[in-house]
Amino acid sequence: MTTAGLEGIIAGRTGIATVGKKGAGLTYRGYRIEDLAEHATFEEVAYLLIYNRLPTPGQLTAYKKRLQGLQGLPEALRTVLEQIPASAHPMDVLRTGCSMLGTLEPDGQGGRTEASIADRLIASFGSMLLYWYRFKNRGERIDTVSGEDTVAGHFLRMLTGAEPDPLKKRALDVSLILYAEHEFNASTFTARVVTSTLADIYAAITAAIGALRGPLHGGANEAAMELVSQFETPATAEKGIMQMLEGRRLIMGFGHRVYKNGDPRSDIIKSWAKKLSEAAGDTTLFDVSERIEQVIMREKKLFPNLDFFAATAYHMCGIPTSMFTPVFVISRTSGWAAHIIEQHNDNRLIRPLGEYTGPDPRPFVPLAERS
Ligand code: ACO
Repeated sequence: MTTAGLEGIIAGRTGIATVGKKGAGLTYRGYRIEDLAEHATFEEVAYLLIYNRLPTPGQLTAYKKRLQGLQGLPEALRTVLEQIPASAHPMDVLRTGCSMLGTLEPDGQGGRTEASIADRLIASFGSMLLYWYRFKNRGERIDTVSGEDTVAGHFLRMLTGAEPDPLKKRALDVSLILYAEHEFNASTFTARVVTSTLADIYAAITAAIGALRGPLHGGANEAAMELVSQFETPATAEKGIMQMLEGRRLIMGFGHRVYKNGDPRSDIIKSWAKKLSEAAGDTTLFDVSERIEQVIMREKKLFPNLDFFAATAYHMCGIPTSMFTPVFVISRTSGWAAHIIEQHNDNRLIRPLGEYTGPDPRPFVPLAERS
Protein backbone atom coordinates (compact mmCIF):
# COMPACT_ATOMS: atom_id res chain seq x y z
CA MET A 1 0.00 0.00 0.00
CA THR A 2 1.27 3.45 -0.84
CA THR A 3 0.00 6.85 0.26
CA ALA A 4 0.44 9.68 -2.23
CA GLY A 5 2.85 12.23 -0.80
CA LEU A 6 3.33 9.98 2.27
CA GLU A 7 0.20 11.62 3.72
CA GLY A 8 -0.51 10.42 7.24
CA ILE A 9 2.63 8.28 7.39
CA ILE A 10 4.71 8.51 10.57
CA ALA A 11 8.22 8.57 9.11
CA GLY A 12 10.25 8.73 12.34
CA ARG A 13 10.34 9.68 16.01
CA THR A 14 11.06 13.22 17.15
CA GLY A 15 11.15 15.19 20.40
CA ILE A 16 11.40 18.58 18.75
CA ALA A 17 7.93 19.76 17.74
CA THR A 18 4.25 18.87 17.66
CA VAL A 19 2.20 20.10 14.70
CA GLY A 20 -1.56 20.25 15.12
CA LYS A 21 -1.47 17.69 17.93
CA LYS A 22 -4.69 17.37 19.90
CA GLY A 23 -4.42 19.35 23.14
CA ALA A 24 -1.03 20.80 22.19
CA GLY A 25 -1.20 22.47 18.78
CA LEU A 26 2.15 23.72 17.55
CA THR A 27 4.88 23.43 20.16
CA TYR A 28 8.67 23.65 20.05
CA ARG A 29 10.17 21.33 22.67
CA GLY A 30 6.91 21.56 24.60
CA TYR A 31 6.50 25.35 24.47
CA ARG A 32 3.41 26.70 22.72
CA ILE A 33 4.01 28.80 19.62
CA GLU A 34 1.63 31.45 20.96
CA ASP A 35 3.81 31.91 24.08
CA LEU A 36 7.05 31.90 22.13
CA ALA A 37 5.79 34.49 19.62
CA GLU A 38 4.49 36.70 22.44
CA HIS A 39 7.28 36.48 24.98
CA ALA A 40 10.46 35.17 23.35
CA THR A 41 12.93 36.38 20.76
CA PHE A 42 14.22 34.42 17.79
CA GLU A 43 17.62 33.96 19.45
CA GLU A 44 15.97 32.28 22.45
CA VAL A 45 14.02 30.01 20.12
CA ALA A 46 17.08 29.09 18.04
CA TYR A 47 18.93 28.27 21.26
CA LEU A 48 15.98 26.19 22.46
CA LEU A 49 15.89 24.22 19.23
CA ILE A 50 19.63 23.70 18.80
CA TYR A 51 20.68 23.30 22.47
CA ASN A 52 17.45 21.73 23.73
CA ARG A 53 16.69 24.23 26.52
CA LEU A 54 15.61 27.82 26.94
CA PRO A 55 18.69 29.95 27.67
CA THR A 56 19.21 31.67 31.01
CA PRO A 57 19.73 35.45 30.77
CA GLY A 58 23.51 34.91 30.86
CA GLN A 59 23.38 32.19 28.21
CA LEU A 60 21.23 34.38 25.96
CA THR A 61 23.60 37.33 26.23
CA ALA A 62 26.54 35.06 25.40
CA TYR A 63 24.64 33.44 22.53
CA LYS A 64 23.70 36.77 20.95
CA LYS A 65 27.31 37.89 21.23
CA ARG A 66 28.41 34.64 19.65
CA LEU A 67 26.03 35.05 16.70
CA GLN A 68 27.18 38.65 16.31
CA GLY A 69 30.77 37.41 16.11
CA LEU A 70 29.80 35.02 13.30
CA GLN A 71 28.38 37.63 10.89
CA GLY A 72 31.58 38.08 8.84
CA LEU A 73 32.25 36.23 5.58
CA PRO A 74 35.59 34.73 4.48
CA GLU A 75 37.14 36.41 1.44
CA ALA A 76 36.83 33.28 -0.72
CA LEU A 77 33.09 33.20 -0.06
CA ARG A 78 32.72 36.89 -0.92
CA THR A 79 34.57 36.21 -4.18
CA VAL A 80 32.14 33.40 -5.03
CA LEU A 81 29.13 35.58 -4.17
CA GLU A 82 30.44 38.28 -6.49
CA GLN A 83 30.43 35.76 -9.36
CA ILE A 84 26.74 34.90 -8.99
CA PRO A 85 24.71 36.82 -11.59
CA ALA A 86 22.34 39.59 -10.52
CA SER A 87 19.55 37.61 -12.21
CA ALA A 88 20.01 34.61 -9.85
CA HIS A 89 17.25 33.78 -7.40
CA PRO A 90 18.30 34.67 -3.83
CA MET A 91 17.47 31.09 -2.75
CA ASP A 92 20.14 29.86 -5.16
CA VAL A 93 22.56 32.37 -3.65
CA LEU A 94 22.00 30.86 -0.19
CA ARG A 95 22.20 27.31 -1.52
CA THR A 96 25.55 28.16 -3.14
CA GLY A 97 26.78 30.15 -0.14
CA CYS A 98 26.02 27.28 2.23
CA SER A 99 27.82 24.79 0.03
CA MET A 100 30.86 27.07 -0.38
CA LEU A 101 31.11 27.76 3.35
CA GLY A 102 31.18 23.98 3.85
CA THR A 103 34.41 23.80 1.83
CA LEU A 104 36.01 26.65 3.79
CA GLU A 105 34.92 25.75 7.32
CA PRO A 106 34.35 21.98 7.10
CA ASP A 107 32.25 20.03 9.56
CA GLY A 108 34.31 18.07 12.07
CA GLN A 109 37.45 20.21 11.68
CA GLY A 110 38.68 23.08 13.87
CA GLY A 111 36.43 21.94 16.74
CA ARG A 112 33.30 22.53 14.67
CA THR A 113 30.13 20.68 15.63
CA GLU A 114 26.71 20.55 14.00
CA ALA A 115 25.46 23.04 16.60
CA SER A 116 28.31 25.50 16.06
CA ILE A 117 27.87 25.29 12.27
CA ALA A 118 24.14 25.91 12.68
CA ASP A 119 24.95 29.09 14.64
CA ARG A 120 27.41 30.14 11.96
CA LEU A 121 24.83 29.68 9.21
CA ILE A 122 22.05 31.47 11.13
CA ALA A 123 24.40 34.40 11.75
CA SER A 124 25.81 34.57 8.23
CA PHE A 125 23.01 33.63 5.81
CA GLY A 126 21.73 37.23 5.96
CA SER A 127 25.29 38.44 5.39
CA MET A 128 25.70 36.22 2.33
CA LEU A 129 22.42 37.24 0.80
CA LEU A 130 22.85 40.97 1.36
CA TYR A 131 26.54 41.06 0.45
CA TRP A 132 25.57 39.58 -2.92
CA TYR A 133 22.49 41.83 -3.25
CA ARG A 134 24.23 45.10 -2.45
CA PHE A 135 27.24 44.20 -4.64
CA LYS A 136 25.06 43.32 -7.62
CA ASN A 137 22.52 46.10 -7.22
CA ARG A 138 24.61 49.00 -5.98
CA GLY A 139 28.19 47.94 -6.69
CA GLU A 140 28.98 48.13 -2.94
CA ARG A 141 31.24 45.70 -1.07
CA ILE A 142 29.58 46.00 2.34
CA ASP A 143 31.07 45.10 5.69
CA THR A 144 28.78 42.31 6.86
CA VAL A 145 29.65 42.76 10.53
CA SER A 146 26.66 44.97 11.22
CA GLY A 147 27.03 45.51 14.95
CA GLU A 148 23.40 44.40 15.42
CA ASP A 149 22.92 41.79 18.12
CA THR A 150 19.76 40.20 16.72
CA VAL A 151 19.27 38.20 13.54
CA ALA A 152 16.32 40.41 12.54
CA GLY A 153 18.22 43.63 13.21
CA HIS A 154 21.25 42.33 11.31
CA PHE A 155 19.12 41.51 8.28
CA LEU A 156 17.33 44.87 8.20
CA ARG A 157 20.49 46.89 8.70
CA MET A 158 22.32 44.96 5.97
CA LEU A 159 19.35 45.47 3.65
CA THR A 160 19.11 49.24 3.99
CA GLY A 161 22.38 50.31 5.59
CA ALA A 162 20.31 52.26 8.14
CA GLU A 163 19.15 51.85 11.75
CA PRO A 164 16.28 49.32 11.72
CA ASP A 165 12.83 50.53 12.66
CA PRO A 166 11.88 48.90 16.02
CA LEU A 167 8.39 47.81 14.87
CA LYS A 168 9.73 46.20 11.69
CA LYS A 169 12.54 44.59 13.65
CA ARG A 170 10.14 42.97 16.12
CA ALA A 171 7.75 41.94 13.32
CA LEU A 172 10.60 40.21 11.51
CA ASP A 173 11.79 38.68 14.78
CA VAL A 174 8.32 37.21 15.45
CA SER A 175 8.13 35.85 11.90
CA LEU A 176 11.49 34.12 12.44
CA ILE A 177 10.04 32.47 15.55
CA LEU A 178 7.00 31.29 13.57
CA TYR A 179 9.10 29.92 10.72
CA ALA A 180 11.74 28.22 12.90
CA GLU A 181 10.42 24.66 13.13
CA HIS A 182 7.60 22.49 11.82
CA GLU A 183 8.32 18.79 12.37
CA PHE A 184 8.64 16.51 9.29
CA ASN A 185 7.86 19.05 6.55
CA ALA A 186 9.43 18.50 3.12
CA SER A 187 12.68 20.42 3.66
CA THR A 188 13.26 19.06 7.18
CA PHE A 189 12.61 15.53 5.99
CA THR A 190 15.10 16.17 3.18
CA ALA A 191 17.69 17.26 5.75
CA ARG A 192 17.04 14.12 7.80
CA VAL A 193 17.37 11.83 4.76
CA VAL A 194 20.71 13.41 3.83
CA THR A 195 21.92 13.21 7.45
CA SER A 196 20.91 9.56 7.65
CA THR A 197 23.56 8.74 5.04
CA LEU A 198 26.12 10.31 7.43
CA ALA A 199 26.73 13.20 5.03
CA ASP A 200 27.61 16.44 6.83
CA ILE A 201 25.37 19.30 7.99
CA TYR A 202 26.29 21.52 5.04
CA ALA A 203 25.07 18.82 2.63
CA ALA A 204 21.84 18.42 4.61
CA ILE A 205 21.13 22.16 4.76
CA THR A 206 22.06 22.76 1.12
CA ALA A 207 19.57 20.05 0.14
CA ALA A 208 16.95 21.44 2.51
CA ILE A 209 17.26 24.88 0.91
CA GLY A 210 16.60 23.22 -2.46
CA ALA A 211 13.45 21.59 -1.07
CA LEU A 212 12.23 24.79 0.56
CA ARG A 213 12.51 26.80 -2.65
CA GLY A 214 9.47 25.26 -4.35
CA PRO A 215 6.13 27.14 -4.31
CA LEU A 216 4.27 24.27 -2.63
CA HIS A 217 6.59 24.73 0.38
CA GLY A 218 8.57 27.83 1.41
CA GLY A 219 8.32 29.47 -2.01
CA ALA A 220 4.63 30.06 -1.26
CA ASN A 221 5.33 33.34 0.59
CA GLU A 222 6.88 34.80 -2.56
CA ALA A 223 4.06 33.38 -4.70
CA ALA A 224 1.46 34.80 -2.28
CA MET A 225 2.99 38.26 -2.66
CA GLU A 226 2.81 37.96 -6.45
CA LEU A 227 -0.85 37.06 -6.06
CA VAL A 228 -1.96 39.81 -3.68
CA SER A 229 0.03 42.55 -5.39
CA GLN A 230 -1.95 41.98 -8.62
CA PHE A 231 -5.02 43.57 -7.04
CA GLU A 232 -5.58 47.22 -6.20
CA THR A 233 -8.79 46.87 -4.20
CA PRO A 234 -10.61 44.16 -2.22
CA ALA A 235 -13.38 44.17 -4.86
CA THR A 236 -11.01 43.46 -7.78
CA ALA A 237 -9.31 40.85 -5.62
CA GLU A 238 -12.61 39.08 -5.01
CA LYS A 239 -13.39 39.06 -8.73
CA GLY A 240 -9.90 37.84 -9.66
CA ILE A 241 -9.90 35.08 -7.04
CA MET A 242 -13.35 33.86 -8.14
CA GLN A 243 -11.98 33.56 -11.69
CA MET A 244 -8.96 31.66 -10.44
CA LEU A 245 -11.17 29.27 -8.50
CA GLU A 246 -13.37 28.71 -11.55
CA GLY A 247 -10.19 27.82 -13.44
CA ARG A 248 -9.32 25.40 -10.60
CA ARG A 249 -6.08 27.29 -9.94
CA LEU A 250 -4.09 26.87 -6.73
CA ILE A 251 -4.22 29.90 -4.46
CA MET A 252 -0.77 30.26 -2.97
CA GLY A 253 -0.58 30.60 0.80
CA PHE A 254 -3.73 28.53 1.45
CA GLY A 255 -4.19 24.98 2.66
CA HIS A 256 -1.90 22.67 4.54
CA ARG A 257 -1.10 18.97 4.59
CA VAL A 258 -1.39 18.60 8.37
CA TYR A 259 -3.58 21.44 9.64
CA LYS A 260 -7.19 20.93 8.69
CA ASN A 261 -8.79 23.62 10.89
CA GLY A 262 -6.36 26.51 10.60
CA ASP A 263 -2.68 27.26 10.95
CA PRO A 264 -2.03 28.74 14.43
CA ARG A 265 0.83 30.82 13.00
CA SER A 266 -1.44 32.63 10.57
CA ASP A 267 -3.39 34.70 13.12
CA ILE A 268 -0.14 35.82 14.73
CA ILE A 269 1.51 36.95 11.50
CA LYS A 270 -1.78 38.48 10.36
CA SER A 271 -1.87 40.71 13.44
CA TRP A 272 1.67 41.87 12.66
CA ALA A 273 0.79 42.49 9.00
CA LYS A 274 -2.08 44.68 10.21
CA LYS A 275 0.06 46.54 12.74
CA LEU A 276 2.75 47.28 10.15
CA SER A 277 0.19 48.39 7.55
CA GLU A 278 -1.54 50.74 10.00
CA ALA A 279 1.78 52.18 11.13
CA ALA A 280 2.68 52.85 7.48
CA GLY A 281 -0.74 54.45 6.87
CA ASP A 282 -1.31 52.09 3.93
CA THR A 283 -3.61 49.13 4.47
CA THR A 284 -4.30 48.40 0.78
CA LEU A 285 -2.33 45.16 0.63
CA PHE A 286 -3.70 44.03 3.99
CA ASP A 287 -7.29 44.78 2.97
CA VAL A 288 -6.83 42.90 -0.32
CA SER A 289 -5.29 39.95 1.56
CA GLU A 290 -8.08 39.87 4.12
CA ARG A 291 -10.71 39.84 1.37
CA ILE A 292 -8.92 36.95 -0.35
CA GLU A 293 -8.90 35.11 2.98
CA GLN A 294 -12.68 35.61 3.31
CA VAL A 295 -13.39 34.52 -0.28
CA ILE A 296 -11.27 31.35 -0.04
CA MET A 297 -12.92 30.43 3.27
CA ARG A 298 -16.40 31.04 1.84
CA GLU A 299 -15.79 29.19 -1.43
CA LYS A 300 -13.34 26.42 -0.52
CA LYS A 301 -13.33 26.22 3.29
CA LEU A 302 -9.57 26.65 3.11
CA PHE A 303 -7.58 28.78 5.57
CA PRO A 304 -4.39 30.74 5.07
CA ASN A 305 -1.13 29.14 6.14
CA LEU A 306 1.76 31.15 7.60
CA ASP A 307 3.01 32.14 4.15
CA PHE A 308 -0.06 34.15 3.15
CA PHE A 309 0.01 37.04 5.64
CA ALA A 310 3.80 36.75 5.95
CA ALA A 311 3.85 38.19 2.42
CA THR A 312 2.09 41.41 3.53
CA ALA A 313 4.16 41.61 6.72
CA TYR A 314 7.45 41.24 4.85
CA HIS A 315 6.42 43.69 2.17
CA MET A 316 5.56 46.26 4.84
CA CYS A 317 8.99 45.63 6.40
CA GLY A 318 10.52 46.73 3.08
CA ILE A 319 11.89 43.29 2.22
CA PRO A 320 12.10 42.59 -1.53
CA THR A 321 9.73 39.79 -2.57
CA SER A 322 12.49 37.49 -3.84
CA MET A 323 14.01 37.54 -0.33
CA PHE A 324 10.90 36.25 1.46
CA THR A 325 11.88 32.58 1.16
CA PRO A 326 15.55 33.26 2.02
CA VAL A 327 14.34 34.86 5.28
CA PHE A 328 12.51 31.58 5.92
CA VAL A 329 15.85 29.78 5.38
CA ILE A 330 17.62 31.92 8.00
CA SER A 331 14.97 30.99 10.53
CA ARG A 332 14.36 27.35 9.58
CA THR A 333 18.09 26.59 9.79
CA SER A 334 17.51 26.37 13.56
CA GLY A 335 14.82 23.71 13.10
CA TRP A 336 16.77 21.85 10.42
CA ALA A 337 19.81 21.78 12.71
CA ALA A 338 17.75 20.39 15.61
CA HIS A 339 16.54 17.58 13.34
CA ILE A 340 20.01 16.93 11.93
CA ILE A 341 21.39 16.58 15.47
CA GLU A 342 18.44 14.39 16.54
CA GLN A 343 18.79 12.17 13.47
CA HIS A 344 22.53 11.84 13.98
CA ASN A 345 22.15 10.91 17.64
CA ASP A 346 19.90 7.94 16.83
CA ASN A 347 20.63 7.21 13.22
CA ARG A 348 19.47 4.56 10.84
CA LEU A 349 19.70 5.04 7.07
CA ILE A 350 16.35 6.30 5.74
CA ARG A 351 15.60 4.03 2.82
CA PRO A 352 11.93 3.29 2.17
CA LEU A 353 10.51 1.08 -0.58
CA GLY A 354 8.80 1.97 -3.84
CA GLU A 355 5.70 0.18 -5.12
CA TYR A 356 6.77 -1.02 -8.57
CA THR A 357 4.40 -0.13 -11.43
CA GLY A 358 6.73 -0.78 -14.41
CA PRO A 359 6.81 -3.62 -17.00
CA ASP A 360 7.25 -7.31 -16.14
CA PRO A 361 10.74 -8.75 -16.80
CA ARG A 362 11.35 -8.95 -20.58
CA PRO A 363 14.15 -9.98 -22.92
CA PHE A 364 16.86 -7.44 -23.65
CA VAL A 365 16.79 -6.13 -27.24
CA PRO A 366 20.31 -5.69 -28.74
CA LEU A 367 20.98 -2.20 -30.15
CA ALA A 368 21.09 -3.34 -33.81
CA GLU A 369 17.62 -4.92 -33.54
CA ARG A 370 15.85 -1.84 -32.12
CA SER A 371 13.80 0.33 -34.43
N1 ACO B 1 -5.83 26.56 -3.55
C1 ACO B 1 -6.88 25.91 -4.11
N2 ACO B 1 -7.24 24.67 -3.78
C2 ACO B 1 -6.51 24.04 -2.85
C3 ACO B 1 -5.41 24.65 -2.21
C4 ACO B 1 -5.09 25.95 -2.61
N3 ACO B 1 -4.07 26.60 -2.05
N4 ACO B 1 -4.88 23.80 -1.32
C5 ACO B 1 -5.61 22.69 -1.39
N5 ACO B 1 -6.59 22.82 -2.30
C6 ACO B 1 -7.59 21.85 -2.66
C7 ACO B 1 -6.98 20.82 -3.59
O1 ACO B 1 -7.09 21.20 -4.94
C8 ACO B 1 -7.78 19.60 -3.27
O2 ACO B 1 -9.05 19.71 -3.90
P1 ACO B 1 -9.74 18.44 -4.58
O3 ACO B 1 -9.95 17.47 -3.44
O4 ACO B 1 -10.98 19.00 -5.16
O5 ACO B 1 -8.76 17.95 -5.60
C9 ACO B 1 -8.02 19.72 -1.78
O6 ACO B 1 -7.95 21.12 -1.49
C10 ACO B 1 -7.01 18.96 -0.95
O7 ACO B 1 -5.70 19.44 -1.25
P2 ACO B 1 -4.43 18.56 -1.49
O8 ACO B 1 -3.71 19.04 -2.74
O9 ACO B 1 -4.74 17.10 -1.40
O10 ACO B 1 -3.57 18.94 -0.26
P3 ACO B 1 -2.07 18.50 0.00
O11 ACO B 1 -2.02 18.11 1.42
O12 ACO B 1 -1.56 17.53 -0.99
O13 ACO B 1 -1.27 19.85 -0.25
C11 ACO B 1 -0.45 22.00 0.03
C12 ACO B 1 -0.99 20.77 0.74
C13 ACO B 1 0.70 21.62 -0.90
C14 ACO B 1 0.07 22.97 1.08
C15 ACO B 1 -1.60 22.65 -0.78
O14 ACO B 1 -2.61 23.07 0.10
C16 ACO B 1 -1.13 23.78 -1.64
O15 ACO B 1 -0.64 23.55 -2.76
N6 ACO B 1 -1.21 25.05 -1.14
C17 ACO B 1 -0.66 26.19 -1.86
C18 ACO B 1 0.85 26.27 -1.63
C19 ACO B 1 1.20 26.73 -0.24
O16 ACO B 1 0.58 27.65 0.29
N7 ACO B 1 2.22 26.10 0.36
C20 ACO B 1 2.72 26.48 1.68
C21 ACO B 1 2.59 25.35 2.65
S1 ACO B 1 2.97 25.87 4.30
C22 ACO B 1 4.61 26.19 4.37
O17 ACO B 1 5.42 25.67 3.62
C23 ACO B 1 5.09 27.17 5.41
